Amino acid sequence: MKINSAEFVTSAVGKSGYPKKVLSEVAVVGRSNVGKSSLINYILHRKKLAKVSKTPGKTRQINYFIINDSFYLVDLPGYGYANAPLSEQEKWKKFIDEYFVENENLKLLLQLIDIRHEYKSTDKVMIDFLNAHAIPYVIVLTKADKLNTTELNKQKEYFSKVFEGSEIVITSSEKGSGKEGIFKIIGNYL
Ligand code: GTP
Ligand code: MG
Repeated sequence: MKINSAEFVTSAVGKSGYPKKVLSEVAVVGRSNVGKSSLINYILHRKKLAKVSKTPGKTRQINYFIINDSFYLVDLPGYGYANAPLSEQEKWKKFIDEYFVENENLKLLLQLIDIRHEYKSTDKVMIDFLNAHAIPYVIVLTKADKLNTTELNKQKEYFSKVFEGSEIVITSSEKGSGKEGIFKIIGNYL
């Protein structure tokens, strides 16, 4: 897929804020700090389109980006950010849940997991939810540049067992790898 245009459209914290124009959506989900916003910038070749930060909890709204005037790439706030005040966490949970339920425009979720970590319970909650609602997803392992070859192979093997039968893409937004795999899958679902 060639990216001819990629622009920020709007931010929402509920249905009333969703874009007026209805298009297919591909959303990026995962724990806070896993690299969702970085991945969006990397695959779109736009350094500062989505806001990135070292501190978890940077993305606090549902951010819509329109790609090639034909579909939305959606950046979601991360989950599992324990330091956020409980009231904030509940507010996010509410509008994020609402985003997933009965969203006919949502064609695919990129479920991001840091390749260095094990499969965490917060990710399991998310993936069980996706399976229960029959929402299509692909596992995208992030930050591959942080591991050496031996560690990388070990983690690849680990995740291919955990997610047996699911598609897995390995990426590094830092080094710029994995985007071809992502676009191939997006193309299959749109
Ligand atoms: P929230 O919006 O807080 O949920 O976080 P996020 O998932 O959008 O993460 P973000 O893209 O803001 O990145 C978090 C941190 O990880 C930043 O310091 C990024 O520079 C770093 N990071 C993201 N992707 C990579 C990667 O592929 N490699 C390395 N080394 N660092 C990365
Ligand atoms: Mg973010």
